[in-house]
Amino acid sequence: GITRHYKFDVKLHNVTRLCHTKSIVSVNGQFPGPRIVAREGDQLLIKVVNHVPNNISIHWHGIRQLRSGWADGPAYVTQCPIQTGQSYVYNFTIVGQRGTLFWHAHISWLRATVYGPIVILPKRGVPYPFAKPYKEVPIILGEWFNSDTEAVISQALQTGGGPNVSDAYTINGLPGPLYNCSAKYTFMLKVKPGKTYLLRLINAALNDELFFGIANHTLTVVDVDAIYVKPFETDTLLIAPGQTTNVILKTKTIYPNATFFMTARPYVTGQGTFDNSTVAGILEYKSPHNSPHSSVLIKMIPLFKPILPALNDTSFATNFASKLRSLASAQYPANVPQKVDKHFFFTVGLGTSPCQHNQTCQGPNGTKFAASFAMPTTALLQAHFFGQSNGVYTPDFPSSPIIPFNYTGTPPNNTMVSNGTKVVVLPFNTSVELVMQDTSILGAESHPLHLHGFNFFVVGQGFGNFDPNKDPAKFNLIDPVERNTIGVPSGGWVAIRFVADNPGVWFMHCHLEVHTSWGLKMAWIVLNGELPNQKLPPPPADLPKC
Ligand code: C2O
Repeated sequence: GITRHYKFDVKLHNVTRLCHTKSIVSVNGQFPGPRIVAREGDQLLIKVVNHVPNNISIHWHGIRQLRSGWADGPAYVTQCPIQTGQSYVYNFTIVGQRGTLFWHAHISWLRATVYGPIVILPKRGVPYPFAKPYKEVPIILGEWFNSDTEAVISQALQTGGGPNVSDAYTINGLPGPLYNCSAKYTFMLKVKPGKTYLLRLINAALNDELFFGIANHTLTVVDVDAIYVKPFETDTLLIAPGQTTNVILKTKTIYPNATFFMTARPYVTGQGTFDNSTVAGILEYKSPHNSPHSSVLIKMIPLFKPILPALNDTSFATNFASKLRSLASAQYPANVPQKVDKHFFFTVGLGTSPCQHNQTCQGPNGTKFAASFAMPTTALLQAHFFGQSNGVYTPDFPSSPIIPFNYTGTPPNNTMVSNGTKVVVLPFNTSVELVMQDTSILGAESHPLHLHGFNFFVVGQGFGNFDPNKDPAKFNLIDPVERNTIGVPSGGWVAIRFVADNPGVWFMHCHLEVHTSWGLKMAWIVLNGELPNQKLPPPPADLPKC
């Protein structure tokens, strides 16, 4: 691989959407921010300079950061934020990943406007496991708020209520013609007939899982979270915040001068208010011979709209998830851990569920299950690396042996958690199985849980309560999908496996930003191994200080 240099100047920048102009934090004056393009095996040196009043940090979402945890980016987890006037060079190498990821601010709610695509091409000379596309197009889904998102979340945290919801969804920063005064802010994808396009979809929205489709077109899924999957066709995609999906769009040969909507709108299973609007972009066919009439013709042809599933279509979600399988080929093997050293069982819930976000749950046998996580005021990774955990974190994140959890009777007793920063400490190379159980069986919500520093295999999922006696027998240990963000099914559970082969401190949290703010987060500490290449090197000299 080669070394690629980028410079991110974080600046304020005026942007107008929905007839509202506001000053946003952005990178290089672009919204969405600049695209990073690299090949598998390349080293990236990205200098981030902070010119705004806010503290900033950038996370390279889904990048494995093998022994480069200092570059992962979550504020107060792997680094202190970059303060006004300061800079930091993120230095990491892309290992074993090809596809689409994204970068975003990882402090407070700044990722609402500070985000952009990461395109990872295969190594030079290595083909895709599918026919080479004619063109590649990043499509980044976002969420636009007319008001200042920092004010939105600080108000919500002060009042204890839910935050105001967004005013629009966006495709590459553009809300499109279904919103007020937005017709000229429409993403247009001009295509030629009879070609294949690789669409690199990213859900960078703060708080909403999204359905996406293109009218009259079928999409072939080929990659999720920068790992190839067995290709399958679908009319609709479901993408949770933090997830990415590469699809192949084959354009038709019979629509030389037509236009089609591509739209996205939310999948919502929980209670509470949400933005129930629809973003639209336009797929426009260009005839090969540019006839002088074509633009006139396009205006005369009505737009077709995709039909997306119902708002709370959990059976679509389940079916879609079940189609995602690793390639598991000789060239791209699925190294699913076959044995487990440590089992963990975390409950995931909010609000009216037995495990509230600010509470610890007491199981039937008195075992504590879940905890809310308090952000430290210094970075966990520094505290860990220099042996200064005292007063920063404690290694007692509550987990439990897997036991049946019955929510149909009286909910278990809750006890308030003392505000703690509790982590799980894992010896190097521990093979981990983690079952995450959605505890809110009534008003159940899907929570996209994101793990930093690893991909994991999704070995099982189901509805109701996880049954440790029956469910593991049905686990897929052959070709489960490998990813970094997984929806804990609404009213159900998911089981993942990963090997703790990456020393450092790794954040795990719900990628619905409001849930992270409310405490649905924790961290794993992976200890160094014995060999030199199993240890985290010391921090770079310019690592920001708190
Ligand atoms: Cu994309 Cu910790 O996040």
